[in-house]
Amino acid sequence: MKKIIILTGAGISAESGLNTFRDADGLWEGYNIEDVATPEAWKRNPELVQQFYNDRRKSVMAAQPNPAHLALAKLEQKFDTLIITQNIDDLHERAGSKAVMHLHGEIIYSRSSRNPALLYRMNSHEIKIGETCELGSQLRPHVVWFGEAVPMITKAMYEMPKADIVILVGSSLAVYPAAGLLELARPDVPVYVVDPKIPSVNLPNPIIKIQEKASVAVPLLVDKLLENE
Ligand code: APR
Repeated sequence: MKKIIILTGAGISAESGLNTFRDADGLWEGYNIEDVATPEAWKRNPELVQQFYNDRRKSVMAAQPNPAHLALAKLEQKFDTLIITQNIDDLHERAGSKAVMHLHGEIIYSRSSRNPALLYRMNSHEIKIGETCELGSQLRPHVVWFGEAVPMITKAMYEMPKADIVILVGSSLAVYPAAGLLELARPDVPVYVVDPKIPSVNLPNPIIKIQEKASVAVPLLVDKLLENE
């Protein structure tokens, strides 16, 4: 069975109503990363950080997978499929994808501030300051802030060279180490890039650029890949 790895970013969830970060109406237009998405912000103003993620958790729970998420789940019929996402929403899972790696965490969980292995499913619950884990430490969003380690990156780097096909959907490739994963694909494998604004991808690989929204382009690409398999 051929292995296919799909790298997704905020763009794949844009048509589910979830803002991206760097588009015109992106999250970083309305907030400063330094105020809501760093360990220093958490120390300085935990209420603001908590509220930022409580709001995002509510919009994720209100969102639905779109045709792009649903199509990617179909790939598992004929491919050994792995989704490596930068997104903290659970739309890939709700679309039916089984193998999903969240490089930047998962908003539907909170985490102990003392033991990162202690996760608590939140759904749309608002985490309050004062709400603690079983060890008595403050619950925090289970997301990777800027400047924090990306625990899943080693596993993701290990998987990339095994891919026979790579697809990039909806990422500006602005953030490392996630953006660097593409360089670990074997140079002979095709890399499909789906984005209305194709990011610059500097690779020796055959690159197939599909300048289109995910919900339009991904179902067509998936059908083609399944037909040819
Ligand atoms: N379909 C496909 N792609 C889209 C769509 C769409 N409907 N709408 C926007 N895009 C594309 C944009 O053109 C852009 O290339 O999605 C990409 C979104 O880029 P970013 O907002 O930078 O999101 P992302 O690449 O996922 O950001 C990476 O940065 O802030 C951190 O942790 C955050 O995981 C995030 C990381």
